[in-house]
Amino acid sequence: METLKAICSRTSCRAFTDQPVETEKLEKVVAAGSLAAIGRRQFENVFLTVIRDRALLDELEAATREMRGNPEMKAFYGAPVLVSVAIKGDDFLGKENCACVVENMLIAATDLGLGNIYLHSPCALFEKQPELFKKLGAPEGFVPGAFMALGYAAKETEVRELACRLPARWI
Ligand SMILES: Cc1cc2nc3c(=O)[nH]c(=O)nc-3n(C[C@H](O)[C@H](O)[C@H](O)COP(=O)(O)O)c2cc1C
Repeated sequence: METLKAICSRTSCRAFTDQPVETEKLEKVVAAGSLAAIGRRQFENVFLTVIRDRALLDELEAATREMRGNPEMKAFYGAPVLVSVAIKGDDFLGKENCACVVENMLIAATDLGLGNIYLHSPCALFEKQPELFKKLGAPEGFVPGAFMALGYAAKETEVRELACRLPARWI
């Protein structure tokens, strides 16, 4: 897929099928994330965890339901894969790095025909329950930065027009 077509095709997916994602595709998505721009080239300040373990995903979803007091809630919209982007707690560029890494993964996933969504909401769970964050295997001193859920989309998504949707001024 052309880059601009992938950008126009990326939309947040909030309904996934149970179909597992091929490891080969996941490896490409993660590699694309890892090739993102990273402030000061401090690659060691970002740590990725690919969570495919259904039991762990179920545990995290159940913990989110409990935290939110919402028995219906599907924190990851039923996605079979969640990618965590953890950042070194004292890196002042951590959040920016996260956004770059996740955006690359979103575009790559779209290109590979996978539904995807940027999620900040799981940060609250992991910040409140550090023992759950520990299960993601990030090094000591790392904190939750951002998450991406992915899998096969339950519904087809439209390809948008390449047109600016943000307030902008040309000077
Ligand atoms: C930093 C960031 C955090 C987000 N966090 C969440 C989230 O926690 N839950 C969610 O459903 N969507 C989340 N989104 C997705 C946005 O809601 C979505 O990108 C926005 O509605 C625009 O829709 P689009 O992605 O389909 O273009 C997040 C997006 C970004 C960039």
